[in-house]
This record gives sequence, C-alpha cells and structure tokens, in this order.
Amino acid sequence: MSNSRQKILMCAPDHYGVEYVINPWMEGQLGHADRSTAHWQWQGLRNALTAEADILTIAPVPGLPDLVFTANAGFVLGDTVVVSRFRSPERQAEEAPFREWFEQNGFIVADWPQDVFFEGAGDALIDRGRSLIWCGHGFRSDLNASNMLEDIYGWPVIPLHLVDARFYHLDTCLCPLDGGWLMYFPPAFDAVSQRKIEAIIPLEKRIIVGEKDAQDFACNAVDLNGRIFMNNASEDLQNQLRAAGFKPTLTPLTEFLKAGGAAKCLTLKLQEHLA
Ligand code: ARG
Repeated sequence: MSNSRQKILMCAPDHYGVEYVINPWMEGQLGHADRSTAHWQWQGLRNALTAEADILTIAPVPGLPDLVFTANAGFVLGDTVVVSRFRSPERQAEEAPFREWFEQNGFIVADWPQDVFFEGAGDALIDRGRSLIWCGHGFRSDLNASNMLEDIYGWPVIPLHLVDARFYHLDTCLCPLDGGWLMYFPPAFDAVSQRKIEAIIPLEKRIIVGEKDAQDFACNAVDLNGRIFMNNASEDLQNQLRAAGFKPTLTPLTEFLKAGGAAKCLTLKLQEHLA
C-alpha cells in the first residue's frame, strides 16, 4: 500500500528465554527455550523479511527475555507512538528501553495515563484498507485503551473482546490484510465481537482459521507486499491465502511459541501512514 519501503523494528534473542509464566503457552516451558535454535529461527525470519523491508533493531537487555517481542513496544501510526503500559510486572521494565528507542528515532511519544494497560501492536491492529484500528481487550490491554487511541489518532477503533486465554493478544488470533481481507480465528472472540467483525468484513473477505492453524500461530503473520510470513500454516489455509492473491512464506519460530509469540510478535512496522 505504501509507496516507500517498510521499516520494521526487531530485537535479537540474545537474552530470550521462558523465565516466568504470564500466558498458557509458557506453562511447563520454564527454561526450555533453546537460545541457539531461537537465534537461527529469528535470523531466518529477519532474512526473509529483508526481501521486503528494512530491519531496524533495538539492543537486547539482560533480564528482559520478552523484549524480542517488539510488537509490544508500542503502537505506531504516522509519527506518533503510544508506548506500551504492560499489565504484567514481569514486562514493565521493557517500557523504558522501548520509550528511549522511539525518542531516539524521531517519534512523538503520545501522553498516556499510568493506569491504563495497553500492549501496543500486540493488541491494536491497523486495518489499512478501512482506515480503522481493531483493538483487543480482556487479557492484557484495557477496554479504555480503545477510546484513548481514537482520541489520539482520530481513527475509528473497534474494541474486540478476547475470551480464550491462549489467544491473549489480538495479534495471536486476527490479522488484517491488504485488499480488505481479514484472517482470524472466530472462537477467540465473544459473540458480540464476532458479530462486529461480521458486520464490517464481508463474508467473501473473511479468511477463517481453524484451531490447529491458530495454535500454530498462523494468525500471527507479517504481511508485506502481498507476502505473508508465518510460523506455519496448513495446506488448506495456504491455499485460501493464495486464492486471495497472497503468497504465504513459512519460517519456523517454534522456540518463540514456547513464550506465546511468533512472526508478528517479533516485529513492529514503523511506517504506518495516517492519510
Ligand atoms: N511472553 C510474551 C507475553 O506473554 C509474549 C508476547 C507475544 N507478543 C505478541 N504481540 N502477541 O507477553
């Protein structure tokens, strides 16, 4: 959609690991993520994305194993960023390095109250074709974050209520794509939110993801210029994506699934145009 090359923020997994449990994927995984495998998987994603975007990095910090999930750094639209306010105390120390990175890289940091939780592009997803923002709540970000984003950016924000703890961030179960397409796992949402999605996205533009693909983090995809980078997807889902005109590219990220993240979580798009 944009006329300039996308820029993506990533963080190398030098200090990555599963060191606490703040989502169901991390249960039973304490100390089980293999850092050297994580490194080559991360490098594999980075190399694949390099074909379509410039990769910028933030320095890894010892003691912050989830800093690799830069989708949670904040929410970027235009030159204004909302830096995340993490719900889990384990991740709150990430706010300072992320804020510093945005300040040093020319972003305007929007005012945001201390007491409203918001986990950035993990929960707020831009639907570029519709000029609207989908915003998840129920596990991490507060419902109130939706109103606040609307005030800051002037775009409509549609709150969606997440109800399955495995899909605690919106980007684990929903992915807006170019051309008005939307890939999502309906059971992750309450009935009212499912109706909201159906009211906005015409049936023929909905790509329904099944449970197995959802558990493989297929919705946690990075879409760039018609290509869709993802940990894994069934033949059926890949065929649906191809039929919609996209090119799925699988890049294994199993070490990061142990912490509850995959391709999209490991990236943050830095060029999102307001107009
Ligand atoms: N362990 C991290 C957490 O639970 C994983 C974050 C994944 N990020 C995402 N955007 N879904 O917070």
